[in-house]
Amino acid sequence: MKKIYLLILKLFNLKSLAIIRSLISYNKKGSKQLAINDNLEIYKDQKEYFDKMIQSNYRDTILDFGCGTGRYLEIFKNFKFVYLVDISKENLKTASIKADKMGIKYKIIRSSIFSLDMQIDLFFSVGVFGQFYQLDSKVLEKIYSLLSKNGKAVFTVKVKEKSDHEVLALSNQNIENLLSNYNHKIQKEYFKGPGGKEYLFNVIEIKK
Ligand SMILES: C[S@@+](CC[C@H](N)C(=O)[O-])C[C@H]1O[C@@H](n2cnc3c(N)ncnc32)[C@H](O)[C@@H]1O
Repeated sequence: MKKIYLLILKLFNLKSLAIIRSLISYNKKGSKQLAINDNLEIYKDQKEYFDKMIQSNYRDTILDFGCGTGRYLEIFKNFKFVYLVDISKENLKTASIKADKMGIKYKIIRSSIFSLDMQIDLFFSVGVFGQFYQLDSKVLEKIYSLLSKNGKAVFTVKVKEKSDHEVLALSNQNIENLLSNYNHKIQKEYFKGPGGKEYLFNVIEIKK
């Protein structure tokens, strides 16, 4: 079933199909596992890495798109307000419990990207594009439109590798083409997954 669904997603590349896949993946059981993984030692380095990338932008508002169960909440503590956006009800429930405990001011939004309409200083997203949701020119335009003046976006995009089965992953060339009209930087990074295997990502920074 899973393989057939991924094949259909690969063939039709529809955003609605990608969303359905996330809703299935992050049911109660999937969400519980994601929350357990949040505390794994391997994510310590990744939290430090992204903390450094957003430090200069500690200002008012940050939006974590596909926040999951709130893995990165601890690096958002210096923001005045955090939007936690995800399509999974279960993930948002866990993220909000964590945010309450940390005393973070936040709003939970259960939605995908196109219905968002706020202005934010920092758009942040890890583990979503090229994995659970498509990155294309329309999504990039939407991200850019959400940024306030001098705002910044920091997000990962999974790069296609021979050894993985990420149907939504993009080639390096494809990512560069998409970003060519934006003031951007790309860092190539290997990040460990829960099984300890390393996967190649592009970490993108876009400045408005
Ligand atoms: C691999 S998890 C990453 C979670 C978190 N960012 C982290 O790094 O731990 C992907 C998350 O993106 C969410 N997601 C996927 N597609 C989405 C979409 N179109 N809109 C909102 N959330 C989405 C999923 O529900 C899931 O919580």
